[in-house]
Amino acid sequence: MLAVAARTTRTAQNPLEESNVSISISLTVNGRAVQASVDPRTLLVQLIREQLQLTGTHVGCDTAQCGACTVHMNGRAVKACSMLALQAQGATITTIEGLATGGEMHPMQAAFRECHGLQCGFCTPGMVMSAVQLLADNPKASEAEIREGLEGNICRCTGYHNIVKAVQFCQSGKQPTAA
Ligand code: FES
Ligand code: FES
Repeated sequence: MLAVAARTTRTAQNPLEESNVSISISLTVNGRAVQASVDPRTLLVQLIREQLQLTGTHVGCDTAQCGACTVHMNGRAVKACSMLALQAQGATITTIEGLATGGEMHPMQAAFRECHGLQCGFCTPGMVMSAVQLLADNPKASEAEIREGLEGNICRCTGYHNIVKAVQFCQSGKQPTAA
């Protein structure tokens, strides 16, 4: 079991706002039991990135708009910047680092590579996590439904066309040719 201590990078302007409270939580992250000690104000994305060092989950807006922080919690895609770490007590979390199995990329990851569904890559982990959820919910999603399903994820490089193609490629079950 991985045990991690409370840590927050948010510096309180007013010392009176500083919290000395630290709460212990247990959860499963990428198949691994984790026990963490968190400040009640710690966001789930902070726990994932700063305490667990799983930096594949990105922070773009911190206001639940861009989807860069998307992870799966109990099998549902959630924006980890809009939840407290405490809300993940007892939960099962999967981050982008946990999608591959046995050293093999998840078919959605392979499809993004095959279709060049990324440019700078900043939005990619969140896009992939949302796209996996999208096809789990609606395996036969039309192009319009894919675009609508990814509405909560913003690509600042505006590479949406190839992202949609990647989701469709994954949906097709075709084998990628990219090495
Ligand atoms: Fe969470 Fe943008 S960082 S939605
Ligand atoms: Fe750059 Fe989407 S690939 S933000």
